[in-house]
Amino acid sequence: MDYKQKIAELIKTQVDLELEDIKKLIEIPPKSDMGDYAFPCFQLAKVMRKAPNMISAELSEKLSKEGFEEIKALGPYLNFFVDKSSFAKTTIETVLNEGDKYGSSNIGEGKTVCVEYSSPNIAKPFHVGHLFTTAIGNSLYKLFKEEGYNVVGINHLGDWGTQFGKLISAYKRWADLDALEKSPIDELLRIYVKFHKEAEKDESLVDEGRMYFKKLEDGDKEATELWQRFRELSLKEFNRVYDLLGVKFDSLAGEAFYNDKMDKVVEGLKEKNLLVESNGAQVVMLDDYNMPPCIVLKGDGATIYATRDLAAANYRKENYNFDKSIYVVGTPQALHFKQVFKVLELEGKEWAKDCVHVGFGLVKFPDGGMSTRKGNVVLLDDLLREAVEKTLEVINEKNPELENKEEVAKKIGIGAVVFTYLKNSREKDIIFDWKEILSFEGETGPYVQYSYARANSILTRAGEIDYSKVDYSKLNSKEEFELIKTLESFKKNIHSAIEKLEPCVVTRYSIEVAKAFNKFYNAHSVLNLEDESLKQSRLALVKASCQVIKNALALIGIEVVEKM
Ligand code: ARG
Repeated sequence: MDYKQKIAELIKTQVDLELEDIKKLIEIPPKSDMGDYAFPCFQLAKVMRKAPNMISAELSEKLSKEGFEEIKALGPYLNFFVDKSSFAKTTIETVLNEGDKYGSSNIGEGKTVCVEYSSPNIAKPFHVGHLFTTAIGNSLYKLFKEEGYNVVGINHLGDWGTQFGKLISAYKRWADLDALEKSPIDELLRIYVKFHKEAEKDESLVDEGRMYFKKLEDGDKEATELWQRFRELSLKEFNRVYDLLGVKFDSLAGEAFYNDKMDKVVEGLKEKNLLVESNGAQVVMLDDYNMPPCIVLKGDGATIYATRDLAAANYRKENYNFDKSIYVVGTPQALHFKQVFKVLELEGKEWAKDCVHVGFGLVKFPDGGMSTRKGNVVLLDDLLREAVEKTLEVINEKNPELENKEEVAKKIGIGAVVFTYLKNSREKDIIFDWKEILSFEGETGPYVQYSYARANSILTRAGEIDYSKVDYSKLNSKEEFELIKTLESFKKNIHSAIEKLEPCVVTRYSIEVAKAFNKFYNAHSVLNLEDESLKQSRLALVKASCQVIKNALALIGIEVVEKM
């Protein structure tokens, strides 16, 4: 229950202020003997032409006390003491009735949000940095859905550019077809690297690459078929990782998708007299905004990355009519997006203000933290595999009899990695420390998942809950009240995560629930109780805790395991 809302509505029955204004005035008192909420009456003094002390005294008489232990005037403040048993009842019943839907709302109904995430480059390795954009975007997608928004998840694949001409040339010269079948990206990367090495010795290669890109642009059959093959092979590998992570997209419209939409971008900019020539290129000057020019057409008339982003932004507006369009892309590209959004704004597109770049930090490994197969790129595949293997080792040590060990290790191991990426505010770099990440103690994925499994095993041992014996007024200890308060604040946390575009708010919330649950469980028995009514009430609380942990983890893309 939203007590601020309830209190505001209550006060509104007696005073002439807007509901929202009343809500803003409500405070959380510094000490619990001053109640759970307080309303200062100073503002009302002006409207009602009475002393604040008198107003608070009068209101304390007039307001309906339902749902409160007490509503007490203390000088100019009106203090609200929540009725803990009705609070416990409403909260737990709501969680249990709503189940997997607990946390959802319709705040975003009728609004559309585009979320672009992952967006790897074709024929390039999918590395640990990509998990940042993939995990953040996946979570934002789920968070917006949870609030009832219509969400479009877009993977803006890097599937166009002059490098594809080089790749075609390299393919025709050196591709090993068996290797390509077995491990497509490795092979594509090998021949691409070779191309650059050879081109240092033989400049004609560069021309050949250019020639193939021109062919590709002109729709030449062979070039197009090869490009398509590279794209499909790469996607097959990317999809394997997406499947492991449980990540999906609504659209795979990558850079190439916008090829036939570029003329319109250029025309639009010309119409507004925004294009000027600079060193042979066509650019939009952004000096007035302290930014370098945004290049739209290169000297040879070819479009580039930014042109495709302008086309993509227009397309998303036209096609989805978004209220907000989010780009989850590393912070090094912040300037690029500032330029693109500014150009849209200069074109007079008032929706440019709805485009948001969501940046994030870097992933670092302390020495020896992770062996790299290729130079300094750590493949995400390798990282996830290592996480699962290491988790399996722990399970084999601690609980060798566990059923579906592999399945459990997969969920815990991958969950631990995703959790690490979403644990801190996204601009912060990650220092990868396996010991910490996979630990069952501390603020980790395994800790939260373990808390869930522990709670779940209590429920399994207890069997069906007998709700006829439940009496929520019995859940009156400090630990119980703290846990219930935490469960109740789920929606607030979801909303705050959305407002800040920070999934870590929900990640941290899942830790809070796990901690509050463990505190409760360490302080109180659940199964060994004489008082059957207390036992059933506590079981209901355990069940609600399980549900909330499960729902919170789902929003950051992590699945729970029933046993571990
Ligand atoms: N493919 C690009 C890269 O790997 C990221 C694309 C970001 N999205 C965009 N709309 N520009 O660097």
